[in-house]
Amino acid sequence: MQILGIETSCDETAAAIVARDADGGGRILSNVVRSQLAEHAAYGGVVPELAARSHVAHLDHIIARAAREAGVELAGVDAIAATAGPGLIGGVLVGLTTAKALAAALDKPLVAVNHLEAHALTARLTDRLEFPYLMLLVSGGHTQFVLVRGVGAYERWGSTLDDALGEAFDKVAKLLGLEQPGGPQVEKQAALGDPARFRFPRPLLGQDRLDFSFSGLKTAVRMAAEDIAPLSEADVADLCAGFQAAAAEIVAVRSRAALARFKAQLPTVPAQLVAAGGVAANQATRLGLRQVAEEAGARLVVPPLALCTDNGAMVAWAGAERLALGATDGLDVAAKARWPLDSADMRLTHAA
Ligand code: KG4
Ligand code: ZN
Repeated sequence: MQILGIETSCDETAAAIVARDADGGGRILSNVVRSQLAEHAAYGGVVPELAARSHVAHLDHIIARAAREAGVELAGVDAIAATAGPGLIGGVLVGLTTAKALAAALDKPLVAVNHLEAHALTARLTDRLEFPYLMLLVSGGHTQFVLVRGVGAYERWGSTLDDALGEAFDKVAKLLGLEQPGGPQVEKQAALGDPARFRFPRPLLGQDRLDFSFSGLKTAVRMAAEDIAPLSEADVADLCAGFQAAAAEIVAVRSRAALARFKAQLPTVPAQLVAAGGVAANQATRLGLRQVAEEAGARLVVPPLALCTDNGAMVAWAGAERLALGATDGLDVAAKARWPLDSADMRLTHAA
């Protein structure tokens, strides 16, 4: 089957065509992503209203390009999948409404995809990973551990109590005068700095739980920067290095505990950990995850960066997985700003 996937929940306008074979294998036929970065740059963050308008302006062309690059007619696809949440509601509405219009006009089934489920299932597209596995999602909007038991069957084991990790990278970049998105800039600076000069706090790490908290860490960086202002280039690099070291250690320590829980709770299956989201691109974070996975004898899967960050292929793939199990949605399905993966309406029996 061939599925069109549409993603508009944040600041990427994206569409893709993905094929799923009867044996469960997947192939990306096209994957077109248009970032709105330049449009939001002057504001130091994503402006929801601007994002929605930009999705309106570009989505039709992006979908047409995805079809052209895949060499398929839209009338020939088997279903239309779109992110229905969670995300910035204006943008989600643009993508979901477009998907509904296409589904109605072409008489195709609609699949309303949870954006987090799309991140969660990507490793099955890239690596044919078998259930169950543990996912660590570290993006600009989310930081959580999820046990992925199957399509629609998720257990959230821990989340951030305040900022997402990517958001913390972005805020640290902003307070140090670096460009957005901040993660890559902070990583670049950190490579030039001394991680030992500043010893930043590791919030919650003493507690036996799988939750995260990053706002105190970000505040500690702000206070250290204010203490030594005006900042030299070396100061900025050292602050970035100290922050990144703390972030990577927090992720590693939590992932070690999460893998231990996985092995205790599911002793008969191989331990598998998937990292998803933009921060999975961070080398210090990856290195920590590799060490922790190796120690635990677990398999670590990190999908290629272009599939870790927001894209249409992951939405198309999640749509394909749902469609293969007979789960489609009515044209009255609602867009949701909030939509936890472990909510009741994720379960397949709920589907029409
Ligand atoms: O998954 P993503 O593209 O978007 C969503 O939030 O859904 O993640 C973007 C986030 C941004 O906060 C960005 O700063 C962060 O991922 N990021 C990084 C790196 N590359 C992107 N953070 C740390 N190091 C990086 N190399
Ligand atoms: Zn995302």
